[in-house]
Amino acid sequence: MANQHFATIGDIWKHLPLAEILTIERPSKVWESHAGSAQYPLTYSWKREYGAYHFLKHAQESLPLAQSQYNAILQHLASTKDNKALFPGSPRLAMSLLGDRMQYLYCDLDWESLETIKVCARELGVASEHVETVCAEGIAVLYERLLILDVNNALSVLALLDPFDPFKHNEHGYNSIDLFRDLTARGVKAALWYGFDSLTGNESETHSTSRAGRHEQLRRVLHIQEEDDPTLSNKLWCGEIFLKEIERLQFRVNPSVLGCGFLCANLSSESVRACELLAMGLVEIYQNSRLPGGSSGTLRFETVQF
Ligand SMILES: C[S@@+](CC[C@H](N)C(=O)[O-])C[C@H]1O[C@@H](n2cnc3c(N)ncnc32)[C@H](O)[C@@H]1O
Repeated sequence: MANQHFATIGDIWKHLPLAEILTIERPSKVWESHAGSAQYPLTYSWKREYGAYHFLKHAQESLPLAQSQYNAILQHLASTKDNKALFPGSPRLAMSLLGDRMQYLYCDLDWESLETIKVCARELGVASEHVETVCAEGIAVLYERLLILDVNNALSVLALLDPFDPFKHNEHGYNSIDLFRDLTARGVKAALWYGFDSLTGNESETHSTSRAGRHEQLRRVLHIQEEDDPTLSNKLWCGEIFLKEIERLQFRVNPSVLGCGFLCANLSSESVRACELLAMGLVEIYQNSRLPGGSSGTLRFETVQF
């Protein structure tokens, strides 16, 4: 399996809002540029203890989390006995929530990950003609589909962009932020995940992976064609969670990411409100959490204007 970061806090602040958004928006097409596996064996590690296991144990303490779509699926898959507990990836979440009548497009460079999606689709009763898997560079594939997408059908597509590095350019010179911007401008419902490891970064190398560095890079790319689409900012919602002690923890204890953002476009206000309630629930259940060594695992939530 190509994705080793599964079931950590970064996955929770991606799948939790994603599951709710899928349920509320009910797209008829789901596209993923970096799909990963349908699911993963849920085995123990301290990073997963802080991520999926903490969520599983404490979700009941917050009403929005307890009632969330994500909680229902995760509790069910994780409770399977005999070492068969599973952690769902984004493809399984979407197919479980939307079922057979939708059209799914999953891209990944790793064909084994794509095989798990085909098997999972069969298990969930999703017909094989509704699930297209493409073993190729995902940004290029989604650009091809975007070019031929009828503008009247744009709002029926939900695209998730979930690369390891959202700022990495493909061989055509485009990265996931370029794609996110162009999907947004076309009217597609889009979501992009990104991580960061400090608030500002002290030196030039660390600044680019800091929160401030990420914001600068995102603003630069998102507003490149401002004169073409002055309303772009109004179409966006971005929620970030990060460890309260992020600056102190940098280079010490890192539970996969110290902070991450879920940037979305063209969502209904109902979805936005639901995501904000879920983020507040997450903050609530991490209030007294601890990382190995005793550092505080408390989270903060902020929305960002781009
Ligand atoms: C973070 S994981 C995806 C996780 C998944 N979206 C989820 O939420 O469960 C990133 C995936 O991108 C794939 N990948 C890396 N580079 C890629 C590329 N250029 N095009 C498509 N997939 C790529 C990796 O093989 C890996 O499975």
